Amino acid sequence: MDSRVKTFKTKYGGFSAAGKEFAVTSPRTPRPWINVISNGDYGMTVSQTGSGYSWRSHAQLNRLTRWEQDLVKDEWGKYVYIRDDRGNIWSAGWKPVCVEPESYRCRHGIGYTVIESRNFGIETELLLFVPPDEPLEIWRLTLRNRGRRRRTLSLFTYLEWGLGQAPDWHREFHRSFIQTEFVRGANAILATKRLWEVPTERGHWNTDWPYVAFHASSLRPVSFDTDKESFLGMYGSQAMPASVKRSRLGRRKGSWLDHCASLQNTLTLKPGQEMTVIYTLGCADAREQALTLASRYHDPSAADEAFRATAARWDALLGTVHVDTPDPAMDLMQNTWLKYQAISGRIWGRSAYYQTGGAFGFRDQLQDSLLWLSIDPEQTKRQLLLHARHQFADGTVYHWWHPLSEIGHRNRISDNLLWLPYALNEYLQETDDGAVLDIEEPCVDDPRPLPLYDHCARAIDRALGRFSERGLPLIGEGDWNDGLSAVGLDMKGESVWLGQFLHRILIDFSAVALRRGDGRRADTYTMRAGELRERLNTLGWDGTYYYGATKDSGEKLGSRENAEGSIWLNPQTWAVIGDVADDPRARQVIDAVESQLEKDIGPLLLSPAYRTPDRFVGYLTRYSPGMRENGGVYTHAATWAVIAAAMLGRGGSAYRMYSRLNPVHRGSRPDRYYAEPYVTPGNIEGPDSKYFGRGGWTWYTGSAAWLYRAGLERILGIRPVLEGLRIDPCIPAAWKGFTVERNFRGARYIINVRNPSHVECGVNKLRVDGAPCCTSLGPREKVVPAFAPGSVHHVEVVLGAPV
Ligand code: GLC
Repeated sequence: MDSRVKTFKTKYGGFSAAGKEFAVTSPRTPRPWINVISNGDYGMTVSQTGSGYSWRSHAQLNRLTRWEQDLVKDEWGKYVYIRDDRGNIWSAGWKPVCVEPESYRCRHGIGYTVIESRNFGIETELLLFVPPDEPLEIWRLTLRNRGRRRRTLSLFTYLEWGLGQAPDWHREFHRSFIQTEFVRGANAILATKRLWEVPTERGHWNTDWPYVAFHASSLRPVSFDTDKESFLGMYGSQAMPASVKRSRLGRRKGSWLDHCASLQNTLTLKPGQEMTVIYTLGCADAREQALTLASRYHDPSAADEAFRATAARWDALLGTVHVDTPDPAMDLMQNTWLKYQAISGRIWGRSAYYQTGGAFGFRDQLQDSLLWLSIDPEQTKRQLLLHARHQFADGTVYHWWHPLSEIGHRNRISDNLLWLPYALNEYLQETDDGAVLDIEEPCVDDPRPLPLYDHCARAIDRALGRFSERGLPLIGEGDWNDGLSAVGLDMKGESVWLGQFLHRILIDFSAVALRRGDGRRADTYTMRAGELRERLNTLGWDGTYYYGATKDSGEKLGSRENAEGSIWLNPQTWAVIGDVADDPRARQVIDAVESQLEKDIGPLLLSPAYRTPDRFVGYLTRYSPGMRENGGVYTHAATWAVIAAAMLGRGGSAYRMYSRLNPVHRGSRPDRYYAEPYVTPGNIEGPDSKYFGRGGWTWYTGSAAWLYRAGLERILGIRPVLEGLRIDPCIPAAWKGFTVERNFRGARYIINVRNPSHVECGVNKLRVDGAPCCTSLGPREKVVPAFAPGSVHHVEVVLGAPV
């Protein structure tokens, strides 16, 4: 292991494998610490206890195995029981039997998890992973006899079939449509269902579940069962199922059951001997494919090969951008975990323990997809086009929609539609691919193809049509903050943040329009931007910072006039990001963030928390004080404070806030923080909570992609703009320098930044391949041009007083 990679070890574990794994060393972490593993279609979660669930394409609408959200018991999963010849029984994970292991370690890695434990002298290593491009997961179970006598072991797998909508609260109904069978030659149980929740032209609940589920083993099973009643025993328990104590399983199959899957294998191990069994669990398109896939992995070397392919795929994805900074915790997050979390968890899996999503959030996955820009911008483009297809002809969009069923939820939350032009502009900065604007996609309610440019223009025009009489945008059922769900139900309340966001988009999109030769639109947007800026700075100003919104009644929110929620974060950060505040004011509002909102856990979304539910604000005020949007650190929004501070050149502040959000540091006090130290949480409880500092809602949060971009583009300051790669580091003065390697429009850039005068920002000298370079766009930065695809360039940057 690279000696520079710190492990950040606590009593529950630390990083290993050069930071690419987190090794949990106790099964009793304060909350389940999980991995979300997906290949873009098939996915699974697995916790350090060995619990978790699986799905294909949609974690909620197409759940393969049953699971219930219980973060205290964490007792739903897919398990392997082991029984020895003396009647000892344990599990290859830790749940559900929960024997005190002689040794235990759970290594969460990139695309896989391994649980290693030793019980009754038998060592087990259970590797779980999802290979690329196949709708299945593989469990490679290796058993070693560490004792001095020969041991005969029986292995029993166990899982409950979900086969559709989750949670399956209507179990007695749904089980009536499931059939199971055992196919001897394939060592496999198959499961099908004659009903699915997706509506069709023949009505509701009137179509087959269009898949064939399978569960197989490489060893020939000595028996099987697909009936939960006979496996557990009536009134039995998962911790000690009746049939695990018997010599053979019940062999029940067919219809009429409460369906599960269990395969029994037996094997004998001489002292020192080791054996491997491969299990698969998958969701095929048809019976034949299920049998082919099940049989393919009868050969353990096929599983080894699939594991190598999985690792290679992740290495290729995560290796495109590499940073080397003086902060090993930042390197861990930037090089590995933020990218992995965003891709595997948010974009591909779209599910976790605190929220099992599955749908696409119009704004959420567009923001997430910006993570792809530095890795593979084609993926961002695909996401843009997908979301364009989920826009209505009047420019409004679904708040979220379900893949597979295409059912969506349309509401009057006011910012959703604007994320399309926002993300498009970011994509253009990275790629300069103006051709994307001409790609045509239909609308949800109009099949006629419409260029992406027009999709964006419709969104902006629609937002421009929803203003109050005095010229601020209407908040409707909420702005980015979903919890402000009742501020503007009568379409009178206004959002200051939305105005700032829209201002950014108007400026950026008028440049897009101008380049496209659409001068009229460019002029209109520039004019509207000017008016809006002026109104925000007069009507939206609260004396020392911007307030947040007005209710339908006209009453201000997020204002010093309010006893609760008297300052909000977003209207301060976006005053800077949206280019609404001029310099003295910009500094003043970020000062307010630092002095009134920033805590040792990062900047709060608002303060103080609401203690009294207000039905004219929304469900935000109903959360326990300090939780989530109600006065916690809402990490997604907190990353914008990092960006705003960096935009002002406050390297020290930007880095301090980044570090406070960095889960590696938060996790150094695990009994306060609770959550996984390797992925960002959605929220950290604020000072108005009794559990100030507790993290939650991990994995499924937009903060992963945003924190990654804040680190790379704003602190390290390597940010694409149309003209090239902008170099504008904004770092703590103590740093001596750092390096970044990344691709940009097909060329490779190796950027080495030195900071001999210990400044926080400002490029003094810049050389590309030894020659002085380049143009400047502003006083602090320089822009390195795009080079020929395939070429490699060395960029030497010296920070100091700009010349
Ligand atoms: C949740 C939603 C996201 C929203 C945020 C703030 O994370 O998924 O869309 O912006 O909450 O309310």
